[in-house]
Amino acid sequence: MGKADTHLHTQYSGYSKLGVMKFPESVISPETQVDRMRSLGYDVMAITDHDETAGAFKGAEYAKRFSDIELIVGEEVTTTDGEIIGLFLNEKVPMGLSVEETVDIIRSQDGIVIAPHPFSFHVPGLQEKILELDIDGFETINGGHPDRYSNMFAKRVMDAYPGRWAEMAGSDAHSVYTSGTCWTEFEGTTADDFRRSILQRRTRAAGKAAPPFGQVQWSAEVVMGGQRLLLDKLKSRLVVQKGDQLAEKVDSISRLKAGAGLIAGTAYLFPPITCLAATLSLFYLGIGSRKMVSRMDDRLNGIDRIIKGLDARNGSDGKRKMLQNRDVHPKGTS
Ligand SMILES: [Fe+2]
Repeated sequence: MGKADTHLHTQYSGYSKLGVMKFPESVISPETQVDRMRSLGYDVMAITDHDETAGAFKGAEYAKRFSDIELIVGEEVTTTDGEIIGLFLNEKVPMGLSVEETVDIIRSQDGIVIAPHPFSFHVPGLQEKILELDIDGFETINGGHPDRYSNMFAKRVMDAYPGRWAEMAGSDAHSVYTSGTCWTEFEGTTADDFRRSILQRRTRAAGKAAPPFGQVQWSAEVVMGGQRLLLDKLKSRLVVQKGDQLAEKVDSISRLKAGAGLIAGTAYLFPPITCLAATLSLFYLGIGSRKMVSRMDDRLNGIDRIIKGLDARNGSDGKRKMLQNRDVHPKGTS
């Protein structure tokens, strides 16, 4: 049985905004992410940076040196409807299109389509839209969802319709501290075996979401990584590689801003602020989960009505026909 983590981020993942603060999504290099997954004994991994494949291609080149792991080039694409993951890509998929257009582009590259955290109430999931989309599978465990609702509800939907989708897990790790907390099990050990298992709907999700403390470690890692780059900038020794948005951004700011960022980052690393951030996030997730769980049965009934309507329109085995028509052939991984 092989083990795959196909939702991993690197420093090529761009930025997030929290209020007026802009911070990098991740500060780890593709090489570090490969080393980490090898140390955890994974057979297959995919780098799925936000709207970028440069880090994934870099990681794939690096992974070629080793015989114990294969790296799939992926991307977590921002669409106007929510986020979607393309795996086994040959080139970058543009962001900002409708999810249907995005799926078509992934398919045109013979890619696999996975919906990450589909029923999340705190990051952009595709929600009920996944029911009618041409996706191969969706995550029933997403490592960035320690809340009581999102993963549990996804699992309920998956289990209600066996064989319709491939069950997936992805750590969604933006930090090495949370890489590999959950994984997808498949028959075989290679990336081709993994692809085949998805197409045959024979995968299984395992592991669990990272604990909230993992998110604190992530934020501290992001701040410390940013500090290093700011320091390099101030010492005029910053190296900027093509496609590395983080280094490009640091390179573009003034020395004054770099100095201010260094001071603000140092202040963040003191325990009162990091602990307060973790407590606030737990509080927010607790309230949200309670609200969502109370509406869960109604939502499941609504989903069942949509599925029955789709099957009545397409024929009860509409999904299966689509699966049989698609090639279940191996594809190069990098
Ligand atoms: Fe992600």
